[in-house]
This record gives sequence, structure tokens and C-alpha cells, in this order.
Amino acid sequence: MAIRTALTERLGIEHPILCAPMARVSGGKLAAAVSEGGGLGLLGGAYCDESWITEQLQVAGNARIGIGLITWRLAQLPNVLDLVLDRSPAAVMLSFGDEQPFATRIKDAGSVLIAQVQSLEQAKLAADAGADIIVAQGGEAGGHGAQRGAFSLVPEVVDALPDLPVVAAGGIADGRGLAAALALGASGVLLGTRFVATEESLAPEGAKAAVAAESGDVTVKGSVFDKARRFDWPAAYSLRTFRNAFSERWEGTDTLPESAIAEFEDAVARADMNVAPVVAGEAAGIIRDVPSAKDVIPRLVAEAEEKLRGAAALCGTP
Ligand SMILES: Cc1cc2nc3c(=O)[nH]c(=O)nc-3n(C[C@H](O)[C@H](O)[C@H](O)COP(=O)(O)O)c2cc1C
Repeated sequence: MAIRTALTERLGIEHPILCAPMARVSGGKLAAAVSEGGGLGLLGGAYCDESWITEQLQVAGNARIGIGLITWRLAQLPNVLDLVLDRSPAAVMLSFGDEQPFATRIKDAGSVLIAQVQSLEQAKLAADAGADIIVAQGGEAGGHGAQRGAFSLVPEVVDALPDLPVVAAGGIADGRGLAAALALGASGVLLGTRFVATEESLAPEGAKAAVAAESGDVTVKGSVFDKARRFDWPAAYSLRTFRNAFSERWEGTDTLPESAIAEFEDAVARADMNVAPVVAGEAAGIIRDVPSAKDVIPRLVAEAEEKLRGAAALCGTP
């Protein structure tokens, strides 16, 4: 069984499922497992740490994967793109910033340019810059994001850009989400939180267990963890995580005291999730296990096919 779409065609993959390029979570093992499972794994190149990217590319071996970078950070460290393009990735995904300065280099190198956007306006700018695939990310998503929900953003982008494959992201973790995304006109899905809770993910074990146990109700959006990590994120984006003792204590504080930052750094080193963040989205509420990423993909496809057949049956026999 297979669901063929403009996305599977464009990327030459079997199933319309992408693993998000999650900072410090989507390492070479996870990206390779998703690609081996028939989707496309994207390495979490995030803040453009050259040594981490080099190491994780080695872990991925010969697997056909893509790489994601945070665009405002790449603008500060533009040479990292050479390191990435030297590996001839199947795709480069840019998120959170202007893709235009990097689009030509990526496409000339033969990679597919995927742009993750949070609004219709950003989607149009990305298309004008030459993006081959648009990921429309709703604010339900784990990690950084903006305001709009996926349920109306996705079809609005689909209507505005009929010639590009549009991928839905945010709140999708099972076959129901994949079926719904296809019904909204998307050509596939990009999943983050679902892949956090997999054997191959580099997330701390405590974070994986929390994602498998908690409701989406425990997530909050804020900036306290970016302040603790001394990241200078543009104000348009906030970070969705699980609420914990640290976020309850410090969210809303303009400047964190050095003692709080020291406590945070120590907790990260010890993977103490009462202080370090579980970075995950609302979809945590429908995740109940920590399987291999390879098993996630056929499961999602089978569930989506069942849902789509059920939906067709609702319409009766013509
Ligand atoms: C742990 C985590 C880290 C993330 N890091 C990044 C990142 O470095 N770059 C990026 O473009 N998106 C990042 N994201 C957002 C994803 O690209 C994606 O939009 C999101 O995970 C989709 O929503 P979902 O979590 O509900 O599946 C991250 C998400 C998570 C959960």
C-alpha cells in the first residue's frame, strides 16, 4: 500500500512523511531510520554547529537524508551552507527567516529547497525566493513557531500556491493527522513531536517518556528557555515546551539572573526535566509509546489509509 502525492514524486520517496530537523534530537541515526522507512529524514542542523553537523552526518552514513537549518542563524554563519552542500543532501530545509539569500546556492547544488513557514505572507515570499516545497507549520507544533493554527493555514497556503507541494506540520502524530492533512490539500506531513519519542531520537530518555505519558494540555509557549540558553530569537517566534518548575518560576521575567542560568545549565547536563525543557508540541497527547522510527511510518500510512477509506464509505456508493 502506498499514498502517492506531489511530495513523494518531488522527493523520490515512498511515503509522504518527513521527520522534522529538530535541534539536538534529529541526529544521523533518526534521520537515516526515517529515510530507510520510506520517508525523508532531515538532520537537525539548527544553530549551525559545524562539529555536531559533521559528526551526525558521519552517523547517517550513506543514507539519503536532508538537512535543516535555522535561517536567522545561517545568516550569521553563512559558510555552514558549504559544509552542508558538500554532502549533497537530498533536501535543505530552511526555517525562521528569509530564504532568499541562500536559495540559489542550494538549488544550484542540486538540492531541493524546503521552506518552513508560519503565515500565508511568508509562504508567498518563500515561493518567490524559489522554494520547491512549502511546509506550513501551525502553532500547535513542538519547538519554535508562531500564532496560526494548522487547520486553516494549510488549505490557505494550498489555495495560494497550487503549483507547489505543501506539507502540513503541527499537531500531527498518527494516521488520523496524515489523512486530515491530505484532505486539507497537503501533499504530506512533517512530524516532530512523534519522532522525539522514538528509539533513534537523541532526546533525553526522560523527555521521550514524558512525551509518551503526558497530555497536550501540559504544553506552553514562551521564551524563558531561549533566555536561559542565551539564544537571541526574533520576537515573532516562541518555543512550545512542556511546562515545568523552571518555566513556572521564570516565564515572564525580562532578564534571568545568572544563578538561574547556572541552575539551568546544570540541569541540562543532568537531563533533569524539572528544569531542562521537554521540547514537544500538543501532539504529545496522542503519543503513547517509544517505538523505532522505522515502525512509525508504516503504522501512520496504514492508519491513514483506513481513515480515508472510512471517510469514502461515509459518502456511500455512487
Ligand atoms: C524537539 C524539537 C526541536 C525542533 N527544532 C527545530 C529546528 O531546529 N528547526 C526547525 O526548523 N524546526 C524545529 N522544530 C519544529 C519542527 O520543524 C516542526 O515544525 C514541528 O515539530 C511540527 O510539529 P509537531 O511537533 O506537532 O510534529 C522542532 C520541534 C521539536 C519538537
